[in-house]
Amino acid sequence: VSRLEGAARAAAGLARQILDYSRDAADTQGRADLRTCVEEVAALMRHSLDPRIEVRVDAGAGAAPVPLAPGRVQQILMNLCCNARDAMPAGGVLELGVRVHGSEATLRVRDTGMGMTEEVRRRIFQPFFTTKEPGHGTGLGLAVCREIVAAAGGAIRVESAPGQGTLFEIHLPLAAAEAAPAEPLPEAEAAGGHTILVVDDEPLIRMVAERFLERAGFRVVAAENGEQALDLLRREGQRIDLVLLDLTMPGMRGPQVVAALRAFLPDLPVVITSGYSEQSVTQATWAHEVQGFLAKPFDRKSLLAAIARALAGA
Ligand SMILES: Nc1ncnc2c1ncn2[C@@H]1O[C@H](COP(=O)(O)OP(=O)(O)OP(=O)(O)O)[C@@H](O)[C@H]1O
Ligand SMILES: [Mg+2]
Repeated sequence: VSRLEGAARAAAGLARQILDYSRDAADTQGRADLRTCVEEVAALMRHSLDPRIEVRVDAGAGAAPVPLAPGRVQQILMNLCCNARDAMPAGGVLELGVRVHGSEATLRVRDTGMGMTEEVRRRIFQPFFTTKEPGHGTGLGLAVCREIVAAAGGAIRVESAPGQGTLFEIHLPLAAAEAAPAEPLPEAEAAGGHTILVVDDEPLIRMVAERFLERAGFRVVAAENGEQALDLLRREGQRIDLVLLDLTMPGMRGPQVVAALRAFLPDLPVVITSGYSEQSVTQATWAHEVQGFLAKPFDRKSLLAAIARALAGA
């Protein structure tokens, strides 16, 4: 029973976080090059997907600017790609494409996976509709995608049949050639040009933290495991002002990473993020080595507060 409860809590927490994130960014004007975003996400996918999934990109040439913040385009792409991955448990082809025609750009994500029945296809954009195991899907991915696309004045359509794979096509208006630079947010001052290293094995958490922090005026670099984080800190530790570090990751765990980095960066502030209770973490033997604790799932406010506290104490 407790495992089920845990999974349900994790799912609910993630759902809250995504909705929070999506509301947070929905009013943000932005500008992204679809081609750059597609290349970036494709590179990420090539690194993280089962090698039996072949990632193909057909992004054409030249820019494809759309009126969305890059983080939102990444969010859309990540969800479509993760859905495609889930539909191809035995491997297949994931194809990403960008086309520009007239005053419109089209983003295509195609997979050769299991496809969907008509009945499923009709419901995929409903919030909380999922066919995945509890704890594996919140059913919010496509609902959020559609919301983002609609906010930018675009549309999303899908073609799929059982055993025939799936094609998602997103139509977006092209952004005006020269967009005014975004207004700096008042919080940017507090961020004071600080650079935060975000370390988490969960791409969604990394993305959420990155967006919250960037929007608040921080510079952000990310690592997906402890080894990568230490590598980065050894090379450019001097320009990192704080580490936001996940407690439980495959490979090196948070406390091991802290112990290792203390050898060469004794004063670098570290904030631990964890789904465990604050009490169980602060009672740990290594707790005095870190400058803060943040319970997952976190919202924008608690994240910025924990970072501000740790930076102030440093
Ligand atoms: N490429 C695809 N191939 C087959 N089925 C898909 C594909 N994309 C989405 N679906 C179906 O649509 C449902 C809803 O997708 P959606 O992204 O909204 O939620 P999810 O992936 O289940 O959960 P979440 O994205 O919140 O982790 C999925 O559970 C799946 O049944
Ligand atoms: Mg999904």
